[in-house]
Amino acid sequence: MTDDTQPSTDVAAPEYDWQGYGFDTRQVHAGEYDDLNAGARVSPIAMTAGYRFDSFDDARNRFSGDADGLIYSRQRNPSGAVAEKRIASLEGGSEAIVVSSGQAAITAALLALAENGERIVSTASIYSGTRVLFGRSFARFGVSVDYVWNTADDDEWDRIIQPNTKAIFTETIPNPKNDIVDIEQVARVAARHGIPLVVDNTIASPYVIRPIEYGAAVVVHSSTKFLSGHGAGLSGAIVDGGTFDWAASERRYPLLTEPQGSAAKSLLERYSRTGYARLAREAVVNDIGPALSPFNSFLLHQGIETLSLRMERHLDSSVTIARWLEQHPKVESVDFAGLESNPAHELAQRLYGGRTGSVFAVTVRGGAAGAQAFLDGLRVISRMTNIGDVRSMALHPATTTHISFSEELRERLGIGHGLVRLSIGIEDVNDLIADLDQALARVS
Ligand SMILES: Cc1ncc(COP(=O)(O)O)c(C=O)c1O
Repeated sequence: MTDDTQPSTDVAAPEYDWQGYGFDTRQVHAGEYDDLNAGARVSPIAMTAGYRFDSFDDARNRFSGDADGLIYSRQRNPSGAVAEKRIASLEGGSEAIVVSSGQAAITAALLALAENGERIVSTASIYSGTRVLFGRSFARFGVSVDYVWNTADDDEWDRIIQPNTKAIFTETIPNPKNDIVDIEQVARVAARHGIPLVVDNTIASPYVIRPIEYGAAVVVHSSTKFLSGHGAGLSGAIVDGGTFDWAASERRYPLLTEPQGSAAKSLLERYSRTGYARLAREAVVNDIGPALSPFNSFLLHQGIETLSLRMERHLDSSVTIARWLEQHPKVESVDFAGLESNPAHELAQRLYGGRTGSVFAVTVRGGAAGAQAFLDGLRVISRMTNIGDVRSMALHPATTTHISFSEELRERLGIGHGLVRLSIGIEDVNDLIADLDQALARVS
């Protein structure tokens, strides 16, 4: 055979701008960068704390913001940037910032908005660690958090929101109750008051819902969970929606809208749609220092590559398991909005396509003793805290994550003694059901 090829003269350049491509394509490619030395196809880990400046002037210009270019990895790192661009692309935001954990993301996102003497309004059913963060550390910083219990009740929101309320916080799919939130309605309340809405989208992930499309100003993630999927390392993300009109709000966000220090212009004037991201990155994350290590950034963007595939399995298996559990004689109730019997079923259909994540609660018969027998019987499903990775996990909130809560608060949140939180992984669903079945057989 003869080689009848000609020297290549017309070679297509690889794609680098992934805007306009489908979700599955962007989760693999958005933000990737080439290794210019070896041509490695996977974006390499930029394991460095700092960056060489080209000259005296270059250093000054990078610090003043007049020149692009990295300064120090507490602010930006190339491996972090891959994850940041990928998450911003999937959530539909203007810019993202990755940090060392979900707690760091929530803290930085909200402290960019509220300070000593100001308030935040949050929905009452949120991750227990966030409630502890608000009640302990935020209280010590002088930032108060007020809770709304009936999120559908506009009057309750209006009563609780005060002139110094600077942010509204909610989650799309709270755990363990799977009591999904109508973020469209909460966004309407926030818009009416000119307050930015910050949404924790950890459990839904942008594959299920993208809160910015419904009016959220900012999205946060514990990317330790579904975004990573492997459970191998902690990380968090803050996404600037790029759409909130900071200047128009009567509440005043001077760090964004007024020039600070020697700067001639405000962050908003300089950066427009990414002004909030600049504020969170440079005035909060850089000050406090919860930078994500380049290695964990790498783990995070590797994990995101398979998000949609994993989510499909998580979601399908959860519906199958929730339906199976609901029929089981040893089960008192299942809190899963995707079930037809759940009061939020209509909302689940309308906003979440009937697929309300894979973290939900099952209450077994026999109270705490029933929960103990059930948990101690599990062999495939791990007894552990964490959610949202490929392996299935179970936990008894009343004696673990919610142990510091008063009995009264636990009751109000619906965290009973027989309640067990499940995070359904991607194992064979029949093996999971068999494991649940043999563990439930121990419940008397
Ligand atoms: C909804 C939600 N937000 C935030 C966090 C905190 O994330 P991290 O553990 O990464 O700090 C968690 C952790 O479980 C969570 O479930």
